[in-house]
Amino acid sequence: MPWPLMQNNLARTDLDAVIAFLQDGDPILTQSTQVRAFEEEWSSWLGCRHSVFVNSGASANLLTMTALRETFGPGEVIVPTLTWVSDIASVLQCGLTPVFVDIDPLTLGMDPQQVLAALTPRTRAVFLTHVLGYNALTAEILEGLRAAGVPLIEDVCESYGATFQGRRLGSFGLMSDFSFYYAHHMTTIEGGMVSTDDPDLFQMLRMLRSHGMVREATSAAVRAGYAERHPDLNPDFIFAYPAYNVRSTEINAVLGRSQLRRLDANNALRRTNLDAFLGGLDPARYRTDFRTAGNCNYAFTLILREPDPALRDRVEAALRQHGIEFRRGTAGGGNQLRQPYLRRRFPEIDPAAFPQVDHVHFFGYYIGNYPGLEGDRIQELCALLNRL
Ligand SMILES: Cc1ncc(COP(=O)(O)O)c(C=O)c1O
Repeated sequence: MPWPLMQNNLARTDLDAVIAFLQDGDPILTQSTQVRAFEEEWSSWLGCRHSVFVNSGASANLLTMTALRETFGPGEVIVPTLTWVSDIASVLQCGLTPVFVDIDPLTLGMDPQQVLAALTPRTRAVFLTHVLGYNALTAEILEGLRAAGVPLIEDVCESYGATFQGRRLGSFGLMSDFSFYYAHHMTTIEGGMVSTDDPDLFQMLRMLRSHGMVREATSAAVRAGYAERHPDLNPDFIFAYPAYNVRSTEINAVLGRSQLRRLDANNALRRTNLDAFLGGLDPARYRTDFRTAGNCNYAFTLILREPDPALRDRVEAALRQHGIEFRRGTAGGGNQLRQPYLRRRFPEIDPAAFPQVDHVHFFGYYIGNYPGLEGDRIQELCALLNRL
């Protein structure tokens, strides 16, 4: 049973939407009204005021950390040990110092108590990742950060559609990042979004996306302010920040708008699939006690209950034999502290001192969960895993 990590994530209707767009007159292809419309539709779906469409989730991370550093200055950012490389790379690239915490095995997100214990006067933000559809927020984290006056940044690249206390993840943080890479809940082929309620950050993020150019600000007051302070400059070419070009295109936005229409329906199917998967697994061998309230995943998390190398070898051999694609370490390559880009910089940190993420690193997997997956195949997969 060939079972890829993702299947048919771009439907014929999405491709037809692009064809219709291209056939209509003389369309503008660079960032324009389709991008703006996608950003507005995304903001209203998420429940936030502003969004900035970029060319990848990694670019969303980079803009977010740049905006954070520009706003609050240098310092520490508390990050998880289980996340994607760009979450930590963006912290380093912006000259901020990552402070690592272990995960909570029930959500795969940062352990709330460790997050609060890591806060110092130098903390500029907590950059939390909602891993593979599981909500990592707790009332304790939100309250602790509010009391400490430390901003929360959410990476929702793997979890959009998931909720906490009935609100969509990504609507809690000062800024939130999303990825529309092919294997995620929805796709623009490549793409990402930064969302925020903060009007000043919105202006800054728009400028950071396009070379730091002031004319990208939608606020006439921001543009006029720069022009008045810099009368020696052509207002069309004022560069406020040493920034990037991480824009996307109209074609990607057309895909995003078309995909967004099906997102909620697809996510409901994914939720049902995950319940079937976790409900079918043998809890003596595999973790099934995840905190699934509000979950919205695009992958099944398969984590051995015990550190059992023999069972691990049988699981990997069986998945390979049956053509079921998987990733060990879950989505981001496992314990980031074991990766060369961090070992080189932080040789004094022992990756094994983070035992929860280390268990996922060596004994955790993810398997694709897409809307078209039939229930009986999920049952067959569980039966196969339970026999090993
Ligand atoms: C948590 C997380 N953040 C960021 C990214 C980067 O997104 P992209 O691949 O669109 O650059 C990913 C990618 O999969 C991710 O899982």
